Amino acid sequence: MSATFDSQYKKYLAVFEERLEKFCASLDCKPDILKDSLVYSLKLGGKRVRPVLMLAVADMIGTGVEKVLNFALALELIHTYSLIHDDLPDMDNDDYRRGKPSNHKVFGAGNAILAGDGLLNTAYSILFEECFSGSEYISAAKCICDYAGIYGMIAGQSADLKHEKDAVPDENVLEFIYEKKTARLITAATVVPSILNGGKYYPELKALGKKLGYLFQLTDDILDVEGNFEKLGKSLGKDKKEGKLTGVSVYGLDNCKLRVDIIGDDCIRIIDGIGGDGAFLYDFVNFIKTRMG
Ligand code: IPE
Ligand code: IPE
Ligand code: MG
Ligand code: MG
Ligand code: MG
Repeated sequence: MSATFDSQYKKYLAVFEERLEKFCASLDCKPDILKDSLVYSLKLGGKRVRPVLMLAVADMIGTGVEKVLNFALALELIHTYSLIHDDLPDMDNDDYRRGKPSNHKVFGAGNAILAGDGLLNTAYSILFEECFSGSEYISAAKCICDYAGIYGMIAGQSADLKHEKDAVPDENVLEFIYEKKTARLITAATVVPSILNGGKYYPELKALGKKLGYLFQLTDDILDVEGNFEKLGKSLGKDKKEGKLTGVSVYGLDNCKLRVDIIGDDCIRIIDGIGGDGAFLYDFVNFIKTRMG
């Protein structure tokens, strides 16, 4: 990865973290445990891949970072809620997240459910507020809601649970799970800047989100097998233990690694078709391909 990519990532990250910090400081819900449990998961860190990607695309196609900032905030709130619920004992039963005990390990399952609900609900409030600015803002807000919902991320999570311990892991089911549970939120990051800018490069950015999401979950499945706890911040070997249908269970580890290169090349070809300076996005693909965390 080039030094330019690192410093640009840090710049987008800093813009986003400042907005998130302001949001956290403005929370004054009671009882304290409610606020504490929301802020705990939001401030654990995480790569902030979705907001950074949204800001970068907004920059690249001329939408402007400021215009998408609250959408990036809403998306990260929704992503964080999905992680809190994903870790619950009745879902993936994961004790660690972002290098620290998962939300339910600190606050208990009941409070973790409420923290997730609270983040989702507050994300919608942020999106509604944006809707006052015009019809394209309404379209962008609806896009995030739909991609997070029962035709999007939640459908993927449902399929992920339904297909635990399948005797024969099916490639079509894997595609469904990848596309819904992971690629939809990543696609929200790539298309919102387009929706707010007259649909500029919409088909290309939608296709890019889908491929990047696939690539992201593929590397997530690989890292569950051979990642490093310190860098990953979550338990290893959980997918096999829970009998998850993953890239590794369908294709095997070595073939997954080959697929990472193939899907990465697909991403590059899509970026080739988008006008503007694609340097950051090319490096972003490489960052996802080679990530350790
Ligand atoms: C984890 O997402 C959930 C998946 C979709 C694989 P991230 O790897 O983006 O998690 P954080 O936000 O960096 O913790
Ligand atoms: C979760 O996928 C995707 C979500 C919608 C949260 P995983 O269950 O593989 O994510 P990790 O490995 O727990 O982060
Ligand atoms: Mg899961
Ligand atoms: Mg999980
Ligand atoms: Mg995983």
